[in-house]
Amino acid sequence: MADEQSDSLTQAKLSFFAKQQLIDSARMVFQLLSAVLKNVTFYPEEHPILLAAADKLLSKIEELLTGRKEVAFYLVGGELFFETLSVPIDQSLLLIMEQFAARDIGGIVFKPELASVELIHFACVMSKESVLSADSEDMNALITKEGITHIALHRGLLVNKQAGGAIKEAKKKASAVFNDTINALEEVVQAVYADQASGMRKVNFVIESMVDNVLDNRDALMGLTNIKIYDKYTFAHSVNTAILSVSLGTYLSFEKPQIAILGVAALMHDIGKVTIPNEIINKPGKLTDEEWKQVQRHPIDGALLLSNVRGVPKLAMVAAFEHHQHGEKGYPEVEGKYKRHPFSQIVSLADAYEAITASRVYYRANMTPDKAINILLKNRGITSAPVLLQAFINMVGIFPIGTLLKLDTGEVGLVMHQTRDLMRPRVLILNKFDGSEKETGDVVSLVETMGGNYKRSIAGTIDPNIANIDIIKYFD
Ligand SMILES: [Fe+2]
Ligand SMILES: [Fe+2]
Repeated sequence: MADEQSDSLTQAKLSFFAKQQLIDSARMVFQLLSAVLKNVTFYPEEHPILLAAADKLLSKIEELLTGRKEVAFYLVGGELFFETLSVPIDQSLLLIMEQFAARDIGGIVFKPELASVELIHFACVMSKESVLSADSEDMNALITKEGITHIALHRGLLVNKQAGGAIKEAKKKASAVFNDTINALEEVVQAVYADQASGMRKVNFVIESMVDNVLDNRDALMGLTNIKIYDKYTFAHSVNTAILSVSLGTYLSFEKPQIAILGVAALMHDIGKVTIPNEIINKPGKLTDEEWKQVQRHPIDGALLLSNVRGVPKLAMVAAFEHHQHGEKGYPEVEGKYKRHPFSQIVSLADAYEAITASRVYYRANMTPDKAINILLKNRGITSAPVLLQAFINMVGIFPIGTLLKLDTGEVGLVMHQTRDLMRPRVLILNKFDGSEKETGDVVSLVETMGGNYKRSIAGTIDPNIANIDIIKYFD
């Protein structure tokens, strides 16, 4: 027993040191890249000093490339990430971070078979004035045209260009990510019909941005899923499902590439619905048998549609096909029983939760998030594995972010964060329910006590439309 314990301790230590080493190497790559970028402005391309700097950089990149298909860095809100690891930025990296932010670069990828001359050439291209103004989609084309094929750049979806160039808290607003994703989804639907691969590229971009945003500040994006004021129902539903799925993926500590695939799968899960007439999709009453049959085709149609689009991850087809395959009423029917892929289960869970909470707005059903959680709990083990459901509930809470609460003090609270106690989130205190007091700007935890009693408790939830409170501005 004692042996086992010390064994696992050694393991943990090892992985800790391995991680630290990886972070050090990643920081070194950026330091050396910074040196090459600087040197290229002083020395001609063949100068030994420049060559030596490029060689050093190359060997560090190659070190990281062992066992990897590529070495990818992401720049999010002034922070640097190597894969999912945060790389601390010291003084020596400030300049390169500013340069990247100014060029709106959100990521850089090094591929195998990179050569030091290519690195130098890349640095030369980067140092040209014209590149400064190009957005990085163009920049990718630009560097490819220059023969640089082992380095790729990502657009800086999350990096705001700040006046003065200093790197500040520069995040892309959650609401912008939300809207971008809706637009991308519309585009991809059109592209699917026009048989173009371009739509998928856009989807990958926005999902990357969504993943970064969720990793950065999950609460802000999740707050938006609770706000259902969009007329484009299927799109909004898909985007919300993606946000919830990606959030659960990060909550479960999946690796970033996995989370991205999960996000794409969730975003596309209902794509088979695009052929169903809107009157059926939005029909408030019961569907006729014929209409129901049509709706039930969407998992198959979706998987088929996706199989025709280049660049779609296989798991997106699987999730589209499997996302309604649960319980007795599950469809489409398959021969024999088999376990659905965990991604399908996650998408299913997010999908069900989203649809139930949305019904409040679209069908005027009295469905507050806490009731939605209750319905999911009743279906425990059917929609998805109990352990996934538990994680989902812990993440969204009984009173999800964005819920308006009536407190026993007469105050109105807007849920901003979850705490360990699912019944006692942190809330922003708004005006009194009778409107007699204005927003205080105070965020308080309902866990706070005074004299052995809770200071505030939840007395109920409030429909934001009835209270006439514009929630979206608090997450904008
Ligand atoms: Fe569906
Ligand atoms: Fe759905």
